Amino acid sequence: MKHRLVTCALLAVSVLLGACSNKEAGHQGKAPIVVGFSQVGAESEWRTANTNSIKEALGGDDFKLKFSDAQQKQENQIKAIRSFIAQRVNVIAFSPVVESGWEPVLNEAKAAHIPVVLTDRAVKVPDDSLYVTLIGSDFVEEGRRAARWLVDDSKGQPGPIRIAELQGTVGSAPAIDRMKGFHEIIDADPRFQVVHSQSGDFTRAKGKEVMEAFLKADRNINVVFAHNDDMAIGAILAIEEAGLKPGKDIKIVSIDGVRGAFEAMKDGKLNATVECNPLFGPQLAQLIRDVAAGKPVPKRVVVQEGVFTQDQAAAELPKRKY
Ligand code: AHR
Repeated sequence: MKHRLVTCALLAVSVLLGACSNKEAGHQGKAPIVVGFSQVGAESEWRTANTNSIKEALGGDDFKLKFSDAQQKQENQIKAIRSFIAQRVNVIAFSPVVESGWEPVLNEAKAAHIPVVLTDRAVKVPDDSLYVTLIGSDFVEEGRRAARWLVDDSKGQPGPIRIAELQGTVGSAPAIDRMKGFHEIIDADPRFQVVHSQSGDFTRAKGKEVMEAFLKADRNINVVFAHNDDMAIGAILAIEEAGLKPGKDIKIVSIDGVRGAFEAMKDGKLNATVECNPLFGPQLAQLIRDVAAGKPVPKRVVVQEGVFTQDQAAAELPKRKY
């Protein structure tokens, strides 16, 4: 009996050790791909969904993920990337908080022969061989989509249509590109005037704060264009506190398509949201596998997305995954 117990215990230990060494050795005995990922932060519902998607997709046996949260600070991302280089990870991936200032650290990664994959946001570098690929949305097109919704919604309305813009993080690709795309469309129609434009840093709290300041200075605002849903939700609170009706007295269009936006649309407080899909973790995982294997990958991978309005909110809400 004693002998059998000892044999069983030894068997259990060897199964456990086997499982551990399989994880160390990765999928089907291959060594896992060590990925250093630097995320922007946790500034919005969108970002939380994006982090969860990436952690889940890179959480399997194929990968060993080293995740770092930069709390919306470029210096934290640069530090994280330098530490990934020092640890000699196989692939570095990151979502750059702003567009410029990456050349030195990307050159260091190149010198160390570590491929870099950009996610979500672009960088401005003179030499695009400093990164292998960028997976993310077409932010210019998102800005155009928001403006097209506005043009459509304002049919037959006389001007001026006075717009307050809540910009994203200063210097970030989505703030620059969404503003560009939005202007491309509205500038063709003289009824539209952007009378206020300031950064709310993509957060609910700052969106509210900036909208409060706009309304203190000027109650004659017809439309809010927010670069993301979180700032729009902050603006809704500020509009209500100012005694006005969001969605009616002031029309609101924003970008992301998070659940909070669908809830606000269902309540008639937000008019439209342009989708920006954060759930590209599985696509990123495949790209990283290909990059690590030295296979050719496209320089730009664009995520597919749509536009949603109030009349679709109730039906769409239960289907939303973020
Ligand atoms: O880069 C994507 C943007 O960053 C999202 O629109 C916003 O919500 C996030 O913070």
